[in-house]
Parts: sequence; C-alpha cells; structure tokens
Amino acid sequence: MGSLGFQARPLSVPGSCRVDFGAEVTGVDLNNLSEEDFKLLRDCLYTSQVVVVRDQQALTPRAQYELTRRFDPETDIYGHGKTIDKRSILHKDLKTIPHQPQVQVIGHGFVDSFEGLENIQLKHPHHNTFHKYPVSAEEDDDCTHFYRWHIDAALYDLNPPLVTSLLAVTVPKGRRQICRWDDGTGAELDVPLGTTAFFSGYRLYQMLSEEDKEFARTSRVEYAAHPYVWISSAHARSNGLGLFSEGLEIPDDKLPPIEVAKIKTYPMVWKNPVTGEYALMVYGIPMRRIHLESGEVLDNLAEIRERIYKLQRPGIDPELIYPHDWEEGDLVLFNNHGVMHSVVGSFRDGETRIFRQCNLAASRTPLGPDTN
Ligand SMILES: [Fe+2]
Repeated sequence: MGSLGFQARPLSVPGSCRVDFGAEVTGVDLNNLSEEDFKLLRDCLYTSQVVVVRDQQALTPRAQYELTRRFDPETDIYGHGKTIDKRSILHKDLKTIPHQPQVQVIGHGFVDSFEGLENIQLKHPHHNTFHKYPVSAEEDDDCTHFYRWHIDAALYDLNPPLVTSLLAVTVPKGRRQICRWDDGTGAELDVPLGTTAFFSGYRLYQMLSEEDKEFARTSRVEYAAHPYVWISSAHARSNGLGLFSEGLEIPDDKLPPIEVAKIKTYPMVWKNPVTGEYALMVYGIPMRRIHLESGEVLDNLAEIRERIYKLQRPGIDPELIYPHDWEEGDLVLFNNHGVMHSVVGSFRDGETRIFRQCNLAASRTPLGPDTN
C-alpha cells in the first residue's frame, strides 16, 4: 500500500505550556506501515519524543506489538519480563492480553470481556497507595497528584524499552482535576481526568548548570535488585518525583534471590540516537547507588535521592509538562530514553478507562554520552 501522505505537526498545548516536544502525525496506516512511513515515524519520534496518531481504534494488539517492536527488532519480550513478582508495586496494574503477551491492558473499572480477558477488574493507580501525603479524601474528587514520574523499565535483568505505545480504547470524558505539586511551590495544573503527563529529559539537561552537566555526563546510576519489590513499602513525595528516605526499603535478605549479574548500572545521561542530544534520564525511585567518574561510590540513600531530586525538580515546572488529553483511538508513542512520564488522576466508581500498553525490553543498553 502506498503512503497516505505522512505529515507531522507540533502538538497543540495549553496556553501556559512551554514544552518543546510532541507531534501529531497524520496520513499513516499503522496496520500496514510501509518501510518509508516507518522511517519518517521513527525520525519524528526521535525529534519530537512524543507522537500522537489519532483514530487508531482499528489497530489490533498484534499490529500494536509489531509497530512497537519495529523500533527495536532484536527484542521480543515485554519490558517487565514474563512474570512480575506478586509483591512488586507493578503487579496490580497490569493485565496481559492472552494472545499477545507483550501487550498489557491497563485502566479502571470492571470489564466483562476484552481481547480474550473475561471479567477483569482494572484499577487506575491512585497516588494514595504510594504517596506519604496524599490529597485528602474530601478533595480527592477535584484534586490529584502526579502518581510517579518514571521511565518504563524493569531496571533489573532487562534493559529499558526504547519506545512505549499506548492506545486509548475507552476514555471517560468531560471531567477535569487540579493536579497539585504540594511541594511547597504552590504549583498546580488543570488537567483532564486520567491524563498522562510527560517532561523532556533533553530540556532538563539543557537547564542544568555546567557543573551539574559535568556531574551528570560522567556519573552512573546503579539500580536496586528487584527494585519494585525493594521499594514496595516506601512512600513518594507529593509531586511524584522520588521517595522519602524513611528506611522502609525491603532488606536484601527479604527480596527474591539476587543475581548480581542482573543488577543494572546506566549512565545518567542518555544520548538521542537521531539528534545526538543529551537527556538527563535518572529514575530516582529505584536508584540504589551513584558511581562517580573517580570510582567513588555514593550509597547514602537519603543523600543521593536529595541530590538527584534537586537536579530533576526544575524539569517538572508546570510550563514544562505536556499533559495529554486522551481521545478514544489515540495511539501515543514515546521515546522512553528521552522523556519521563506519570500516570495522573483519581477515578470514581463507574468511570471506565481501557488502554493497551506495549513496550519491549531493549536489545541494548541506553546510549551513554560518549557513544559514537
Ligand atoms: Fe509508564
């Protein structure tokens, strides 16, 4: 099939928004994507970081998987692997499509039948299960928090997926909430219910001082073994960016057996494979240690968390956030090595949301700043 006429234009964003990423693509047939259109789409993804394609209700789970895999054809395994430990904080959020196990169903509400899954209860992650100071029950209808700023990544054994795809199948419309930072800055943003929020690691890197850029370019982050079990009792800051250090991490001898060879250590700065730009990409929540260029290892959790928080906090200023206003049929692809994102919102009983998510553990490690 010939090209329908691939076109990309910047996403329209709310007035106060100063985001410099995001594109809406039209004129592609994602169920039958030509090689030429795929090349255009890949270039668009790595120059825009977040790509929206509307009206993709007809995209099958198979085609979603194949599209996602096309960005990294050497891999075939879901980003978090085949089984997720029951104690992991991710376990309750994911339901696997039986006939396409790399694609997960996420969302909210009871669904009697969807893609071979019967009578499933979806639950949109609510920040009150994870934050130390959640929004009060009285305000919960109107106000919310960023649940958790993150990179889609197992960070143990498996490499972070290059790209994640999200398809909005069912979206409850009309309701909005105030997302509050509650971090002492007074920042807040009026967002559509259940938005997915993004910020750019490239923009964040550009905003660092020269000294911090040097630190970021030359340091590496070691992630905890079984990170999502390790932090399963810990509590997050109200703006969703990192954890409080209260000594609540699960000790090593209470974790599943640790294989040292599976522990992941990555550069702090990840290079864009198309533009060569640097992104500050540190996932502070599962971080365990920082390795400095000198060979020194920093492992005081409270101190390294504070240091990374101070580096990253400017990146989530309200005008730098893109909150996607989901429409049914939206297919969003994002560069998981260049942006961080967060679930947002608290749903009422009776509000049903069905999304399909696909990402694949990458066949390679993130590109460090010195990669040619
Ligand atoms: Fe995610």
